[in-house]
Amino acid sequence: MSLHTNIGFQLLDTCIYNASGPRCTSLKELIQLDKSHSSLVLSKSSTVLPREGNVKPRYYHNELGSINSMGLPNQGFQYYIDSANAISKPYLISVNGLTLEDTKLIITKILQSNKINGIEINLSCPNIIGKGQLAYDLVEMERYLSEIFIIINQYSFPFLVGLKLPPYFDLHWYPQITNIIKKFNVHYITCINSIGNGLLVDSETESTVIKPKGGMGGIGGQYIKPIGLSNVRNFYLEFQKQNLKIDVIGCGGIESGEDIFEYILCGASAVQIGTQFYREGIKCFPRLQQELKDIMSKKGYRCLDDFKGKLQIIN
Ligand code: SIN
Repeated sequence: MSLHTNIGFQLLDTCIYNASGPRCTSLKELIQLDKSHSSLVLSKSSTVLPREGNVKPRYYHNELGSINSMGLPNQGFQYYIDSANAISKPYLISVNGLTLEDTKLIITKILQSNKINGIEINLSCPNIIGKGQLAYDLVEMERYLSEIFIIINQYSFPFLVGLKLPPYFDLHWYPQITNIIKKFNVHYITCINSIGNGLLVDSETESTVIKPKGGMGGIGGQYIKPIGLSNVRNFYLEFQKQNLKIDVIGCGGIESGEDIFEYILCGASAVQIGTQFYREGIKCFPRLQQELKDIMSKKGYRCLDDFKGKLQIIN
């Protein structure tokens, strides 16, 4: 029984690793991930300078999921480049420079360091006060990617490039986004970031549960799994239709091996764990691996390709 998978050219021991977000900001957390059963280490989204992020309280979870308005607290990109010295697994740095110029600078420095396996470009943070989510503005997204790939294309060594996308809610988006992405050498997309600007209310205290942005924040966890699944499915089918070799990574509401099984059935090549990793810590990775193996074993599947993408429509 194998949980091996590939993201682009990168072979991974299992299809399960951390989402950029919880527990991947400090070196201590990155080393914990390196020692854990996560098959890859992905950093918190990095900016040029260290950031405190938004005011607290800025994170809350209940049994159904989470709301966050962290505002990209991170140690600055150089810290994440230097952290590579302590990491033995495939290691990706998430990048959100806040401006195009800063993003270009970060990516240039990461490439020049020649120490990092790749980047996940975060086009979908909903929590930067005064800024929208880049991947909802197709013209701007294309301009942004065009300039970034001028830099990336100057380097010939293997370097994984992924895009973290927000959820899309209407079917016309999928071919439109695909037509942009396919112009660049993108190896994978992650679907989905949190659903932006949701609101959780505490009826007892008659208040919001987080403080920034009037209590609005990105919603994660079980609340968003159906949207995560549909985004994975729609991009997977669109990539197949256009014969594109771009992997789709599922993210959103994964708490069990069954959730992972569903994402892979919809076409995911791997999955990232966010809210549940925050709740449970690194113990979630071996548990999820075992639960997925148990389901595969019951169904007689020996590897992910036995069921990847093979979701059927009910008769
Ligand atoms: C944050 O730091 O605000 C969360 C990051 C994200 O949702 O992209």
